[in-house]
Amino acid sequence: MPFLATDSVTLSSGIQMPVIANGSWAPPTGNARAEVKDWTLTALKAGYRHIDTASGYGTERSVGLAIKESGLKREDVFITTKLSYTDHSRVQDSFNESLANLGVDYIDLYLVHWPQCVLSEADGTIKIVSNPTFVEVWAEMEKIFQGKKARAVGVSNFSIKNLEILLKSAKIVPAVNQVELHPYLAQNELRKYCKDKNIVVEAYTPSGYSKVRNHSTIGKIARGHNVTPNQVILAWHLFKETVIVLKSANEERQRENLTLPALSNEEVKQIDALDRGERICNKPDEEGMVSGWTMEQLGW
Ligand SMILES: NC(=O)c1ccc[n+]([C@@H]2O[C@H](COP(=O)([O-])OP(=O)(O)OC[C@H]3O[C@@H](n4cnc5c(N)ncnc54)[C@H](OP(=O)(O)O)[C@@H]3O)[C@@H](O)[C@H]2O)c1
Repeated sequence: MPFLATDSVTLSSGIQMPVIANGSWAPPTGNARAEVKDWTLTALKAGYRHIDTASGYGTERSVGLAIKESGLKREDVFITTKLSYTDHSRVQDSFNESLANLGVDYIDLYLVHWPQCVLSEADGTIKIVSNPTFVEVWAEMEKIFQGKKARAVGVSNFSIKNLEILLKSAKIVPAVNQVELHPYLAQNELRKYCKDKNIVVEAYTPSGYSKVRNHSTIGKIARGHNVTPNQVILAWHLFKETVIVLKSANEERQRENLTLPALSNEEVKQIDALDRGERICNKPDEEGMVSGWTMEQLGW
């Protein structure tokens, strides 16, 4: 059954997660990060009840302020945040900092942002280190879950290869895997693998940006429903029962992204045919690396 924009899914920990989140990544400047408060507030007013942030975005504080200012009760907003890859050797401390930044006493979903572990150098560059491994980090995440201040724990940017390694020693199966997923990168194998393991897949960069929005097939379907290309792509995700982590800072587009058309099976098939395994957000650099790891290490 296709999801409706107002639906929630039940995670393996038993909690309900709204199927559309508004994100909060912003460029690393004070102003841009502060503006996240304004756009999170308009998102909450528009009806979003799931906000996605991360320690690495530097926007947890802005998200926390927006939730307070919205007047909504803490339990009415689902908050996802993530452990930075610079903090793999201090999971508990980093988690406590996220709680303090957000001004809350629990997180709904806490994710390991990346499988790789890096050290931040004084000059701002990053250096990949091999310890702790993500298996060791996951054992710390399990302790966080057992401490009851995270209602679910999961991962992000994990491939089948790395999930297989993780699951060999995991006591708790990650509730969620948040990955780049859009019509040009449909991730069908990973989706099937995660479904079999009861891991909910969340799509980040769900639109595929203007590259996918401008595809003639998307445009044609949009004209047929009298909606925008972004709405068509988001409707495709809901049809395929994928949780969406989108981002709009604009009040009108935030509302638009919650008002989605029902696509026909034929239209979904046409969008399925656009899959070409292309990463648009986190694509490999000239050396074939993404955030310091090769595609082989990432299992991408
Ligand atoms: N786990 C990870 O490693 C990871 C990586 C990347 C992202 N994320 C999370 O996912 C969130 C969303 O990622 P994303 O920004 O790449 O997603 P996205 O929603 O696919 O793209 C956002 C872009 O689309 C525009 N947009 C939104 N709605 C639109 C509409 N109806 N029509 C036309 N343009 C529209 C936005 O502009 P306006 O804001 O001006 O509307 C913005 O430029 C992030 O904020 C972050 O929380 C996680």
